[in-house]
Amino acid sequence: MKILVTGGTGYIGSHTVVELQNKGFEVVIVDNLSNSSADIVDNIEKITGVRPLLEVFDLTDFDKTMDFFTRHNDIKGVIHFAAYKAVGESVEKPLMYYRNNLVSLMNILESMIANKVENLVFSSSCTVYGQPDELPVSEKAPIKKAESPYGNTKQISEEIIQDSVKAYDVKGIALRYFNPIGAHESALIGELPLGVPNNLVPFITQTAIGIRDQLKVFGDDYPTPDGTPIRDYIHVVDLAKAHVIAVNRMIEGKMKKDFEVFNLGTGKGYSVLEVINAFEKTTGQKLNYKIVERRPGDVIEVWADPTFSNQELGWKAEKGIDEMVLSAWNWEKALRSKNKD
Ligand code: UD1
Repeated sequence: MKILVTGGTGYIGSHTVVELQNKGFEVVIVDNLSNSSADIVDNIEKITGVRPLLEVFDLTDFDKTMDFFTRHNDIKGVIHFAAYKAVGESVEKPLMYYRNNLVSLMNILESMIANKVENLVFSSSCTVYGQPDELPVSEKAPIKKAESPYGNTKQISEEIIQDSVKAYDVKGIALRYFNPIGAHESALIGELPLGVPNNLVPFITQTAIGIRDQLKVFGDDYPTPDGTPIRDYIHVVDLAKAHVIAVNRMIEGKMKKDFEVFNLGTGKGYSVLEVINAFEKTTGQKLNYKIVERRPGDVIEVWADPTFSNQELGWKAEKGIDEMVLSAWNWEKALRSKNKD
């Protein structure tokens, strides 16, 4: 059973390729390598014993996308990760974000429809909820106006899929991720931020290993128990497994509606200081950090109600915060020792 994974050499994509191959799926990756490296395919092969096919091109190119689907006419499902994802950059370069994230999605949908590929799993985000009025946040919570062009591309993408599902022979599942962190236990794949990381955990591990001088904690005057914002961190391997279940659900015709949405979180929130404490405790590394002013655009607290995903997908996040930060640390160490060779 052949699955196309766009962005399959990226962070969440590579972990999903591993889980798909572990379940016996044949995987074809399409990636333009704009934020990842082709070497990842070697490491996926080391983990699974199977080398996925990688085709390097840009999905914003309509002709190449259509040609790909025509050549691979036995694809049963598409898991679409390929997208830009940096919030700050999207504010500076909104058109780059809209063009890349939306044009590629439309090219994929048109090519799927033309080639009778029905099943699309889409990589969405809890950012669509903004600061929710009620916690934990379920799939029924209203979509709030996006805080950034990046967030807006996720909202518009879900709408594009929803409208396409009504008009054509396609089905969609949008998976709304909370905060994916951690790395595969082999430490052969993980998150590889280009330049200075925006996200908390890569910044923690890079500070601990000495690449960054100091972690800045963005504000401790939020209305939370310790004053720092709360997020629902989820292990990337748990997240990857949910994609395999989602694509299987589509292929096996088990969807209840032609467009479904699932929250992927653990249901438990941790503050920034709690993540730092978990990191220091599990790794034995002392972290140099200081409290600075708030980062504009940060919500106070958000965590998932994963009940619907648990029930409908039969999926549950299994790994706890200690395992998440320890695996991120092991990946950081492996990465730096490799770079020294
Ligand atoms: C961010 C995006 C979100 C996106 C997600 C995935 C924003 C507002 N949200 O989520 O839309 O889907 O990344 O990439 O950017 N923190 C620090 N110091 C740091 C980095 C982070 O204190 O150096 C804090 C933040 O203030 C926040 C928490 O750590 O409270 C998590 O931040 P981060 O990892 O960037 O994720 P989000 O902001 O939740």
